[in-house]
Amino acid sequence: MATFVPPNVRRVLSPHLPLGDHREAPFYGRDILSVSQFSRNDLEYIFGVAKEMRAMVERVGTFDLLKGKILANLFYEPSTRTSSSFLSAMERLGGSVIPINEVTYSSVAKGESLPDTIRTLECYADVIVLRHPEVGSSALAAKYARKPIINAGDGTGEHPTQALLDLFTILEELGRVDGLTVTMLGDLKYGRTVHSLSRLLSLFVVRLNYVSPEILRMPPALVEELAGKGVSQKEFISLEPVLAETDVLYVTRVQKERFENLEDYEKVKGVFVITPETLEKAKDEMVVMHPLPRVGEISMEVDEDPRAAYFRQMECGLYVRMALLAMVLGKA
Ligand code: CP
Repeated sequence: MATFVPPNVRRVLSPHLPLGDHREAPFYGRDILSVSQFSRNDLEYIFGVAKEMRAMVERVGTFDLLKGKILANLFYEPSTRTSSSFLSAMERLGGSVIPINEVTYSSVAKGESLPDTIRTLECYADVIVLRHPEVGSSALAAKYARKPIINAGDGTGEHPTQALLDLFTILEELGRVDGLTVTMLGDLKYGRTVHSLSRLLSLFVVRLNYVSPEILRMPPALVEELAGKGVSQKEFISLEPVLAETDVLYVTRVQKERFENLEDYEKVKGVFVITPETLEKAKDEMVVMHPLPRVGEISMEVDEDPRAAYFRQMECGLYVRMALLAMVLGKA
């Protein structure tokens, strides 16, 4: 039996219906390197496509929008969510994936440079998703690539697709962004997710609270950048003064792998732990988010709380990444 697909979903998703030349679609052939490249209109467009992707996944699971297209998933750092959601996104869209999750077994181990690895993979793939430990690595890759590069995390720099899925989650959970108080907690120095999310939120009227140990404060250059855009920002060393006013509590892991001195890590690990008792003082209508993985900063007892949005957030990543792949490949 044929599955019914609503006309609005068909119009956007079927390459066989008259949408004009897909290559004229916004984002066709573009890199996704930083959230700074997006406007509010872009976000509306991306999230519209992401919602349609969700509708299609719920209705048919997998469909052939990107049949014949190949993604190279190149990860120089560990990943579970970003790597597998991009893989799942491509396969749900009917495309295929070259997975390079362990560069130790690729020619990188023989000393191949990033530009050469990129120039190699683009011979075989239509789009490259790259995670790399160095800030600016995706921009470097894009300089040499003829195919679109999607930044899946460049060291402590940015994680733009995470910020997009974070914002999509906030909209899905709370229905708006303007007027919200967003409290970011944990490792704000090394956390690329909060660097990207705070930049993306600067497109909206929000209040940002930064709660961290002194040595893990938000980078002053970023605070200055956002201040220049008129964003209201305050810094704290404890959650207590801001919890009651918080609409989005965005918790992050202290990133052991980024510390030069492990003694410093030992001093700050476990300094914040969100428990059911913590949330007793929070609003009824708020959300707790986390890019994951967590290593103890949100206790598992919190998972049952309806305000715990981090698993729903993870699922949003699939639809946003499906949207991005379809867009850069000219099919949305
Ligand atoms: N949120 C995130 O980037 O998770 P992974 O490191 O598992 O990809």
